[in-house]
Amino acid sequence: MSASFLQAPASFDPYAIRAEFPVLARQVNGFDLTYLDSAASAQKPACVIDGMADQMRSAYANVHRGLHTMANETTEAFEGARKTLAGFLNAGQSDEIIFTSGTTEAINLLASGIGADLHEGDEIILSEMEHHSNIVPWHFLRERKGVVLKWVALHDDGQLDMQSYEAAFSAKTKLVTLSHMSNVTGVITDAEALVKIAHDHDVPIMLDGSQAAVHFPVDVQALDADYYAVTGHKLYGPTGIGALYGKAEHLKNLRPYQGGGEMIESVSKDKVLYGLPPHRFEAGTPPILEAIGLGLALNWMMDLDRLAVAEHENALAARVVDALTRYNDVRIIGDAPGKGAIVSFDVKGMHAHDLAQLMDRYGVAVRAGNHCAEPLIQRFEATSTCRASFAAYNTSEDVDRFIEAFDKAREFLS
Ligand code: ALA
Repeated sequence: MSASFLQAPASFDPYAIRAEFPVLARQVNGFDLTYLDSAASAQKPACVIDGMADQMRSAYANVHRGLHTMANETTEAFEGARKTLAGFLNAGQSDEIIFTSGTTEAINLLASGIGADLHEGDEIILSEMEHHSNIVPWHFLRERKGVVLKWVALHDDGQLDMQSYEAAFSAKTKLVTLSHMSNVTGVITDAEALVKIAHDHDVPIMLDGSQAAVHFPVDVQALDADYYAVTGHKLYGPTGIGALYGKAEHLKNLRPYQGGGEMIESVSKDKVLYGLPPHRFEAGTPPILEAIGLGLALNWMMDLDRLAVAEHENALAARVVDALTRYNDVRIIGDAPGKGAIVSFDVKGMHAHDLAQLMDRYGVAVRAGNHCAEPLIQRFEATSTCRASFAAYNTSEDVDRFIEAFDKAREFLS
C-alpha cells in the first residue's frame, strides 16, 4: 500500500453503492441477504451486468481476425479492457497484461512457461499462506521435473516469517511466488520487502493479487513485481477472466502456454513461429465479453474513493472481530497488524460447516472449509474455518445480522 493511498481523503456512501448491486435486494430464507462471501466471489454492479448485455446487443464478433465493422468494434472494446487493466495495475504498457481465465490459469501459465526451462534440484520459494492455485502448479513441476519447493513459514499472527523467507534462498532459487493478501486470514504481506529481497538474490517474483487488488490500489511498477496475478470475479467483474501481468523483458522470453489460433506468427508443416506477447499466451478465442465486463468493473472501482472503501470494509471486519472475541471458545485465525477485511475463525467443538449452514437460515452467507489453503489450515492446526469477507457494498446492518445469526447458530450448537 502506498503512503499517498493511506493519506488520501475519505468519502464514501456504502448504501448508494449497495443500491448498484441488484442481487443484494433479494431475500434468502425470508431474511434480507447478508452477503459476506466476497473473498470467494464478489457480486456484480448493474453497470457490469448491463454493460455486458449491451455489448452483445450492439456489437459482437470475434476479435483480432475480422475485417468487418463489428469485428473491429469488438476488438477495440476487448483491447480497451486490456488498457483499463494495465491502468488499474499501473503496468508500463498494456502488452504486459495477458488475459487468462483467472488467477489459477495465470499461475499455471507462468509455471508452464518457466517450468520448461527448470531442471531437477532447481528451487521455487512459496509460503504456507498460499491458495492451492499458487501451490499445485508448482507441485506439478516438483512431480514432473524434480523441482524443489521451499516453504516460507508463518508467524502465529498469520504474517510471513521474514527470517524464514531470507533463509529459503539458495543459488538454485529460480522463482519466488507469494500471496499479496491471504484469502483465509486477510493478512497483507509486505510486498515491497518481498520483492526487494528476491531481487537482492537476482530472483524474479510473482505476487498473487487475487485478494489484494480488490482491497487496495496495486502499482506493479512501484512494487517492481516481475509478475502479478489477478482474477476478475473477485474484482466485481464476471467469472472466466483474469490476468497475468509480466514485465515485458520477461514475457518476451517466456515459453507459450497453450497452442492454437491467435498466438502464432506463422504455422507450416514443419515449423511454428509464435506471435508477440501478450497474444503469444492467448491461444484460441479469448473470453471477449468477460474481458469487456472486467474493464467495466475496474472502471467502476477506479471511480470509488478506494481509501474510503478500505477504511469502511476494515471497520466492518473490526466490529466482527470485536464481537467474536467476546466468546472464549472462538479463535480468530490470523490477526497480524494492518490486515484486510477478511475474518476467519473457528469455534471449539463446533464444525465450521454447521455454523455456516445455520447462519444461512438467517440469510447470512459466509464461507466454511479449508478455503483452498490446506497448508495454512494445517499450520493453525484447524480442520476448517468459517470466513466472513467484506466488500464495498457491505453495511453495518450486515454486521448486526452476522452477529445475531452467529449468536443463534452458536447457541443451537452448544
Ligand atoms: N479462492 C476463493 C476463496 O478463497 C474461492 O474462497
